[in-house]
Parts: sequence; C-alpha cells; structure tokens
Amino acid sequence: MNILIPFAKPIIDDEEFDAVKAVLESGMLAEGKVSRELEKEYATFVGSKFATVTSNGTTALSTALDAMGVKPGDEVITSPFTFIASANSIAMVGAVPIFIDVDPDTYNMDPNLIEGAITEKTTAIMPVHIFGLPSDMNRIMEIAQKHDLQVIEDACQAHGAKVGNQIVGSIGHTAAFSFYATKNMMTGEGGMITTNDEEIMDRALMIKNHGRGKQGGYSHFQIGYNNRMMDIVSALGRVQLKRLPKVTEIRRKNAERYNKLFSEFDEVTPQAEPEGLQSSYHVYAPKIKSDKISRDDLIKEFRERDVGARTVYALPCHKQDTYINIQNWRWAKFVNYPDYSNISLPHSEEVGGSHFDIPVHPSLTDDQINIIENAVREILS
Ligand SMILES: Cc1ncc(COP(=O)(O)O)c(C=O)c1O
Repeated sequence: MNILIPFAKPIIDDEEFDAVKAVLESGMLAEGKVSRELEKEYATFVGSKFATVTSNGTTALSTALDAMGVKPGDEVITSPFTFIASANSIAMVGAVPIFIDVDPDTYNMDPNLIEGAITEKTTAIMPVHIFGLPSDMNRIMEIAQKHDLQVIEDACQAHGAKVGNQIVGSIGHTAAFSFYATKNMMTGEGGMITTNDEEIMDRALMIKNHGRGKQGGYSHFQIGYNNRMMDIVSALGRVQLKRLPKVTEIRRKNAERYNKLFSEFDEVTPQAEPEGLQSSYHVYAPKIKSDKISRDDLIKEFRERDVGARTVYALPCHKQDTYINIQNWRWAKFVNYPDYSNISLPHSEEVGGSHFDIPVHPSLTDDQINIIENAVREILS
C-alpha cells in the first residue's frame, strides 16, 4: 500500500549534499577533522565536557559501559520498554540487564522500583529516555549517588530533550545518542558518547579505536573495537545539529496540536510530560483503551486513510526470545542470568500493548496534519 504520510522523513537538503561533497572532495573519508568538529559542537550543545562519535547508538552504549568499568557479571538496572539495543549493549559487555517496570504514564523506568532491584552486583543504572521523554533524572541521580552507582543515559531517542534547563546527555555519568536514519538528528547510521569525566572519555577513545593511544599510530594498549564513525557521516551530523533546535520546536508544536485533539477523546491518553521535563517528541505515542476498537485495528484504520501509524516494542525486552533464551548467549557460560521467562512487568506490557504512534516529524505539512486529525475524528467518533 502507498502510505501518503510517512511515519518518519529525514530532512536532506542542499546543505547536507554540500557538506558530504566537501568531505568526498577532500579525499579524507574516515573519522578525522570533521568528526572532531562535530564532537566539539555536540558537547557544547549538550553542555557536556567531552563527546566522541561512534559507529551507531548501540556501540555508543556498549563503549560507554565498557569505559565506565561495567564488567562481566555486573548487574545494570534498565527499562524493558525500549528498543532491544539498550539491553543488548549491557549483555554485549558481559553484564546482566535487570529490568524494572516503567511508569504507565511516562513509559520510562519507575524510579520507585530502583532500590528494590539493587544487589551487591549492581554497578550501573541505564535510564532510557523513551520516545524523547527524559527519565526522572533528578531522582535517578539521587539514588545512584546514595548507592555509589554509575548512570548511563540511553538518550538515543532524545536529542535536545530537557530536564529543567539541562539537555539530556549532560546529567548522567555518560550518555549515548543514535543518529539512525529516523532519529530527530540523523546521519543514516551514527552515534555519540557524552560525558563530563575525562578518564571515562580517555578509556572510551581507546575502546572505540582498537586500544590506540591518543598519539595514534600503531601502538596499542588494550583490546578494543573499530566503533569509529566516518567523516562523511559526521559532515551530515554537523548540518543536522544546526537544524536540531528548529526540528525540536516543530515536533513539540505538532505534539501540542495532537494533545489538544486527543483531550476530546477519553479513550486516548498521550504519553505524560511531567512538569520540568521537555520531550523531544521523537515519537508521538498515546495509549488507546477502548471497547470499540483495538490498538492494532486502530493502526489499520489509520493506514487505510494513508496515515503512516505504527507501534513498537509490543514485546518489551524481557518478553523477547533473546532474553527468554539467554542461556544460548556466549557469556551465559560465565555469568548467571535470571530466568527472564518468569519475569512479569505489567506496566511495560500494558504500554507495549496499547500505544499507537502517529507521524510528528517536522516535514509534516498543515494539510497532512489536518488529514491525520480528520482520520482520528473519523475513526474514534
Ligand atoms: C532507545 C534506543 N537505544 C539504542 C538504540 C541503538 O541505536 P542504533 O540503532 O544507532 O545502534 C536505539 C536506536 O534505535 C534506540 O532507540
């Protein structure tokens, strides 16, 4: 079927073409000067002391965890209601994802459940700012400080989102961002680590680049990976970063319009945006609870009206075969994993079963938003 209004639409303009062309013409395609510029600009934007690019958001998370000293057998408390890369990055360093339930209104990790999940093996907490809404970072940082734990923000969906006046990525000990093709700031594939901790950044730089020292060359000091990002890609990122404040503003305006619309319908509840938190609205994801129409039929009805609606994470991480069958994972020989099949996290399952996502991206025209609004009225009235 031809979907008239796509769920996501990357903005690629003359500026992107020119920036990529300049890198191609320079003949220096791999990570170098342009990436250093993007890192400086991104750190300034976020308000963190240090930033480094990575090949994608997953490697940003795994590299940062590794650089923080999270090691095999450690437990990392995280949210199950997320893209599986959040949990997988924990498993990739040999650590154990410990899922706690989400708040049913914000869909983010419920901070009231953190202390009950802490054991002597816990070394870190990974809040995920889902759909662009920051987690309750003030509470999470307080708890982390009390128990001497580190915090890594999974900010892969939350470029420019705010907690008070702080932009996410500057609050936890580290943060990871994704520049995947559909993200608010995108480069196709790409990622970024931010931190205020110089030692963590130094370790991250080694880990992402085969354990090379700062001087480069062919002296290597530890096992590392190739998690670098190309300058061609960073060139796109620099243009996208300049555009990000405007993009966020438009997404927030579109979301406000939808919030107003859905206030007319008791059966629909938008994702809450608690006082003091500002979502980047990567995804606009209200929940539907109705005797008349199921979530999946609602999405079908939207799509029949050429609205690219969808849902994600119907199966939260603990319900995925990856974790049900974790004993097949190579680290399971050395690390004790919980039996994830016994875990019930009702709020994450409820959110996964009831949210529907409609286009909120900045390229939506007024006419398209009108089509979406009319579709909502037609389907729900
Ligand atoms: C919450 C979350 N974490 C991690 C990732 C992983 O990022 P990437 O796809 O760039 O590896 C994503 C990307 O979709 C994400 O949405």
